[in-house]
Amino acid sequence: MQCDLEGKVALVTGAAGAIGSAIAERLTDNGARVIIADINLQGAIQVADGLADAIALAVDISQPDSVENLVLQIMREAGRLDILVNNAGINTQAHRVNIDAFPLDEWNRIVRIDLDGLYLMSRAALAPMLASGNGGRVINIASVVGLAAMRLQSPFVAAKAGIIHLTRSMALELGSQGVLTNAIAPGSVMTDLTRKLFYSEDGSFSSRTEEFMQHIPLNRPGTAQEIAEAALFLASPGAGYVNGQILAVDGGWTAGYMM
Ligand SMILES: NC(=O)c1ccc[n+]([C@@H]2O[C@H](COP(=O)([O-])OP(=O)(O)OC[C@H]3O[C@@H](n4cnc5c(N)ncnc54)[C@H](O)[C@@H]3O)[C@@H](O)[C@H]2O)c1
Repeated sequence: MQCDLEGKVALVTGAAGAIGSAIAERLTDNGARVIIADINLQGAIQVADGLADAIALAVDISQPDSVENLVLQIMREAGRLDILVNNAGINTQAHRVNIDAFPLDEWNRIVRIDLDGLYLMSRAALAPMLASGNGGRVINIASVVGLAAMRLQSPFVAAKAGIIHLTRSMALELGSQGVLTNAIAPGSVMTDLTRKLFYSEDGSFSSRTEEFMQHIPLNRPGTAQEIAEAALFLASPGAGYVNGQILAVDGGWTAGYMM
């Protein structure tokens, strides 16, 4: 889709990564100036260099001082903030274990970034957004696992479910001030990181992937661009009456059971 975001400033966290960079690209393509914010500053600079109107800045969303500093820098360099895309997030790689065996430090690390971090970033970014009186948009990147749980990744599942309900709280509290909050729940998305989970060495889907894809009506993973398209819609003037919604972009995975 195309829309007019000319004059708008958007902050995308985790924008050095696959989905965040795709979202940033769609926003700049439609006229927004985009802040590429990431804990990986080198990656953020690389992404910003390839975009029409982007600034790379470092942030650790789990640190209150870091998010406050980021917002100060944005106000200094761009003078306003209209769209916040809370995209930065992590999951466990090493600890795919039952809840009773899940290491507490790994639980804390994931929840601190995925849920607390999203809250901290929102709180800091909302200050100038609300003070401006121009309204704004908050787009939270959750996951289908926040809608229907999955085994062996309990902190990620709990954090994403928390994001979904926090989105609704934000929508109720901020809507009357013109700030609309919605979430996207991506299904399985093919990125450089997940590619090796899907494919065998010969380039075909692994047998586990074949089995998994049978639960997805479209029978394939999504792309970062497909998530970015949904984010662009939620940021667009056309979504001016959409507030507090969770848009699953999952090929129909959470629509029901494929039996
Ligand atoms: N890829 C998928 O299949 C999938 C599915 C559902 C939801 N999601 C969600 O989409 C979002 C983006 O995922 P992705 O696949 O692009 O992952 P990714 O790993 O490519 O990107 C995540 C980015 O977040 C950054 N980051 C991590 N911790 C940070 C912190 N403390 N502060 C600031 N930045 C930090 C990383 O440096 C990285 O650039 C995440 O919230 C993820 O949970 C992804």
